[in-house]
Amino acid sequence: MLSALSRARFDGRLHHVSSVAVAGDYADTFTEAMFQEGQDLPHAYHRSKFESEKLVRESKVDYRIYRPSSVVGDSKTGAMDRIDGVYYSFGAIKKLAYALPGWVRLPVPRIRGRFNLVPVDYVADAMVHIAFSDTDARVFHLVDPKPPPFVKMADMFVAAAGGPRLGPAVDIAKMPGAKKTGALMSMPPSVRELRDAFVSDLGLPTQGLGAMNIKVRLEDGNTQAALAGSGISCPPLRTYAKTLYRYYEDHLDPMKQRPARYRRELGGKVVLVTGASRGIGLATAHMAAEAGAEVLLVARDAAKLEAVAQEIRAAGGRAHAHATDLSSFDAIDALADAVLAQYGGVDVLIHNAARSIRRPISASLDRFHDYERTMALNYFAPVRLTLRLLPSLRERGGTISHVLTMGVLMPAPYFAAYLATKGALDAFGDSLMAELQHEGIHVSSVYLPLVKTEMMAPVEEYAGRSDVMTPRRAATMILDGVVDRRRRVMTGMGAYFAFSNRVMPATTSRILNLLERAFPLDDTPSEFPLEKAFITNAIGGSPV
Ligand SMILES: NC(=O)c1ccc[n+]([C@@H]2O[C@H](COP(=O)([O-])OP(=O)(O)OC[C@H]3O[C@@H](n4cnc5c(N)ncnc54)[C@H](OP(=O)(O)O)[C@@H]3O)[C@@H](O)[C@H]2O)c1
Repeated sequence: MLSALSRARFDGRLHHVSSVAVAGDYADTFTEAMFQEGQDLPHAYHRSKFESEKLVRESKVDYRIYRPSSVVGDSKTGAMDRIDGVYYSFGAIKKLAYALPGWVRLPVPRIRGRFNLVPVDYVADAMVHIAFSDTDARVFHLVDPKPPPFVKMADMFVAAAGGPRLGPAVDIAKMPGAKKTGALMSMPPSVRELRDAFVSDLGLPTQGLGAMNIKVRLEDGNTQAALAGSGISCPPLRTYAKTLYRYYEDHLDPMKQRPARYRRELGGKVVLVTGASRGIGLATAHMAAEAGAEVLLVARDAAKLEAVAQEIRAAGGRAHAHATDLSSFDAIDALADAVLAQYGGVDVLIHNAARSIRRPISASLDRFHDYERTMALNYFAPVRLTLRLLPSLRERGGTISHVLTMGVLMPAPYFAAYLATKGALDAFGDSLMAELQHEGIHVSSVYLPLVKTEMMAPVEEYAGRSDVMTPRRAATMILDGVVDRRRRVMTGMGAYFAFSNRVMPATTSRILNLLERAFPLDDTPSEFPLEKAFITNAIGGSPV
């Protein structure tokens, strides 16, 4: 552009939109007069903005340079067209708001610094005004002149989401051992992998972190002088943080864009779903096929499977039925051979087929076969199939989904045989990740709550339960885990159970034992009829 202007002997004024990213990692006050201060430019974004501003400055054209800070949506409507900067944290904020109510106060590490956000309407209004104003200044910072401290900013967004209040801030630097930890943090690349995993646990993207500078203070004297008397000013974040968050929830939340996300990640992939003839597996197979995956359907009932395959094909998808009894090792081997021969392997392996048994241990004294048959289908079958397909999964950097139950996080009474199999599969997944994660293999463990399928149908006391999930919703938990490569997928209640079981194991065991005595399965009367009535009324059925 600059050479074209020069060839055309352009003698007007070039208005160049740069960014405060030119300040790189500068950790003091950065004025509009400053440019090359010896600052490091650790991120490609810093370098690209710095280099382009440099070209403009070194050219012979007359210029005005505008340097906005991190631009967010419109302060009046919240409108924004992409997820960038602070918006990346909104997913984690939403999780936090889901897990903890507004009256909780959450201690947070003290983070000194300010992240400068500026609404797009202020940037646009200010730029237009300055472009036509008579001033000798050439560089203008379009920033919030009084940005809130970092933790205060986070608190505003968390409050907007209805989550806990953040604070008090804890000074980690003053805690014993902090110095040693500091030295450790500078030890690449293993620590970097760890940091990235931690950031991804929070639901934040790992790329782009390096572009964030919260130490720099941005001075905007030229802008303030040019805007004097215009009525244009940057509104304080507290007046529009909620508007930004609301807009994100309504329009930008990636969870609302599932079809596109699924298409991007699953289109053209070979996805094998066991237990695909009904229930959760059926819903998962349909959803994966809608996203453009080639779906391999596995279950025993050949006619049902063929009907599902035809339904998917009729809707324009690709599906193949592979009727297999997964409780037979020979049949599993034959399935693996057929898959390798016909498709060369799979990209995604969803271990969903399972059987559940609800029977007290004391009523199982002569029923060892219950333990054997649940183990055969729920544990040995997925392990055997995974072992057979592992080389192809390694080649493709594939994903394995283990469809587990919330009962693994808080083992309830009456499901000893079933829960042990799911716990075993969970442990196998942990080992797989520990051994193969660096090769690109991913295991996603999904801890489902009660889902309305044939599996729960025999239990009359579950019929009125208010917390039952639909198979389609369960399928989105499974596929979210696959496409977002999430290590563990659970509901807010599941996360709460996992937490309390870890922190208060004795109390948790006792609560579950009290439940067993309140809701006995045989003819003995309930030891706690009042509590039983209260719980039944509250959740619409039996919790166990
Ligand atoms: N429903 C719930 O409340 C709930 C809660 C938490 C977790 N889960 C988990 O979610 C998964 C799916 O459950 P669901 O409720 O959808 O179960 P479901 O309705 O009973 O369906 C089970 C599926 O597995 C297949 N299957 C059963 N035995 C098989 C065998 N020997 N070989 C091959 N396929 C076999 C069945 O087809 P065929 O009969 O044709 O073989 C069917 O497609 C399971 O892993 C379950 O543990 C369910």
